[in-house]
Amino acid sequence: MSAHGTPIPMTSYASGPLSGEAHVPGDKSISHRSLILGAMAIGETRITGLLEGQDVLDTAKAMAAFGAEVTNHGGGNWSVKGVGVGGFAEPDNVIDCGNSGTGVRLIMGAMATSAITVTFTGDASLNKRPMARVTDPLALFGTQSVGRSGGRLPMTIVGAADPAPVRYTVPVPSAQVKSAVLLAGLNVPGETVVIEQEATRDHTERMLEGFGAEITTEVTDEGRVITLKGQPELKPQDITVPRDPSSAAFPVCAAILTPGSDVLVPNIGLNPTRAGLFTTLREMGADLTYENERVEGGEPMADLRARYSPNMKGISVPPERAASMIDEYPVLSVVAANAEGVTEMRGVKELRVKESDRIDAMAVGLRANGVQVDEGEDWWTVTGLGAGNVPGGATCATHLDHRIAMSFLVLGLCSKQPISVDDGGAIATSFPIFESLMGGLGAKIERT
Ligand code: S3P
Repeated sequence: MSAHGTPIPMTSYASGPLSGEAHVPGDKSISHRSLILGAMAIGETRITGLLEGQDVLDTAKAMAAFGAEVTNHGGGNWSVKGVGVGGFAEPDNVIDCGNSGTGVRLIMGAMATSAITVTFTGDASLNKRPMARVTDPLALFGTQSVGRSGGRLPMTIVGAADPAPVRYTVPVPSAQVKSAVLLAGLNVPGETVVIEQEATRDHTERMLEGFGAEITTEVTDEGRVITLKGQPELKPQDITVPRDPSSAAFPVCAAILTPGSDVLVPNIGLNPTRAGLFTTLREMGADLTYENERVEGGEPMADLRARYSPNMKGISVPPERAASMIDEYPVLSVVAANAEGVTEMRGVKELRVKESDRIDAMAVGLRANGVQVDEGEDWWTVTGLGAGNVPGGATCATHLDHRIAMSFLVLGLCSKQPISVDDGGAIATSFPIFESLMGGLGAKIERT
């Protein structure tokens, strides 16, 4: 939905060749964390290249409600004057995190060990998503919470006035849960330890270190053991937000699927906890190359060059790669529909609790467009029809999920008949320039 709640139906048509450079927006995960850690530092953090998608704007508004001074200087340049660890004021009103699971879960963690009471809500998608995965570990610090049945928003959190440090093994592969516990641990005396059995995106750990916290990660038999020393004084930072590999996925896959295409997607972070899709596409036989490989701000980076790849093969995606490409399975399934043979995606139960049940949303839409999909609770397979052979012609429900909307619009660029989505409004949560960027490459995507 758009900000005022009116659905925005959209249609994509056979296009191409796509060509040119795709400058995708800033990384969503790093943008949220820049604002939150900036608000918890003492002094002014300056941020360049912040993603100005609705999810991040909602987090910016929330940080202001907690007492930080958040200023938009234009052109993606923002500053945050922080209130320090433990310095959050109690907001006067409900905190509305819109569509953003990352926003609400990280902010819950950040406020959970301050003696303030905060009520959180979100849109229809976010208010269906499970929050107990965050409130359960926060309760170990002494934090209380009351939400709707099933641990859903709206929910009120009463921060722990006298929190004790926690040692917690994250039961699901989730960077949001890991990060919520670490952010809560900031305002606790002593060491908070978080253990994850599968490596998930590590931006919180890297950025906490950058802001001056004492944090170590040790790989042991238990998994990755992350130890944070509480009550640091976080030092403000100058942050350049790298471009989002999860947004890059859309022009990259569009180029791979659209005849004659050759697209450059510059300055993409290839942090191994995020780059699983690109590895998978290359294994399938995509003509995807990394140019100008370098390290910037401690993160591996490259310019991605994607060219039309008509001879891709279905593969079994290793389950241990799932966390590093968890947001990319919808668009991978679109690529798989245009490969030869079956693509198997296993160990992906988490897809069922994203902005929508992403296995279900993609399976229903792909089948409506003539593609065979089989599924179980934590796996799905797509039987490819070969390049350009998807019949298309159907309208897909997006369930307020940006990545479902963008995935089906990419599929329409290379299917025999156009493909529509019932509502592309959610695209603005993570990729507000999607339509103009794709149009600039030559993709025919229209509001209908
Ligand atoms: C994110 C973590 C992932 C991902 C989300 C962003 C983050 O969610 O799907 O888009 O920034 O920490 P989970 O932690 O639920 O896997």
